[in-house]
Amino acid sequence: MSNRLLFLGPPGAGKGTQAQLLAAERDLLHLSTGELLRAEVEAGTELGAEAQAVMARGELVSDALVLAIVRDRLISHDGGWLLDGFPRNLAQAEALSELLEELHQPIECVVLLQLDDGILLQRLLSRGRDDDNEAVISNRLEVYREQTAPLIAFYRQLGLIREVEAEGSVETVAKRVVDGLG
Ligand code: AP5
Repeated sequence: MSNRLLFLGPPGAGKGTQAQLLAAERDLLHLSTGELLRAEVEAGTELGAEAQAVMARGELVSDALVLAIVRDRLISHDGGWLLDGFPRNLAQAEALSELLEELHQPIECVVLLQLDDGILLQRLLSRGRDDDNEAVISNRLEVYREQTAPLIAFYRQLGLIREVEAEGSVETVAKRVVDGLG
């Protein structure tokens, strides 16, 4: 059973939804960098102030800032984990590999959620988070294609990718995720 996982996929594919379910079922730490950054914005911290404008444009917050957040939490956690929304580019993926080597905690599986752009757009527009409007979603998708999608080849080369079709109900996708983990 995999206890150290990443969830990868475009905005709106259901990473957060599925990660939350699986983490609760397997008692894993669910680390969503998007959620952690939104909490910093909400709390009005210096870090939140730095991240807010970048997130509102749908661009990526600095690698150093995100890495510091992830590093702190993984170092202080004892047990399995599930990373959602991180890493987001090759520099973050390489930094994560170094950190996990230091912790002797290799990734066991990368769940890649795949979904058509039309459905992603519908899901995000009906959610209506601050960064869920057409212009920002289109930028988030472009950032995903340019910076995050190359991670698919990076992790495929390591034999870690499990592709999951993310169309259908939350329950249907959850079952596919569990089946994909074997
Ligand atoms: P982040 O919070 O990670 O947003 P995202 O990747 O754009 O992902 P979403 O939350 O939009 O989608 P999701 O795939 O998690 O889907 P969800 O389950 O929510 O990042 C936000 C911003 O923070 C970034 O743009 C960036 O600025 C910054 N950031 C974050 N991480 C960073 C990093 N590592 N480096 C730098 N910057 C970073 O579902 C979406 C909606 O669909 C929900 O309403 C849900 O209820 C619904 N839904 C889910 N599944 C289904 C289903 N099966 N059927 C119908 N509806 C469904």
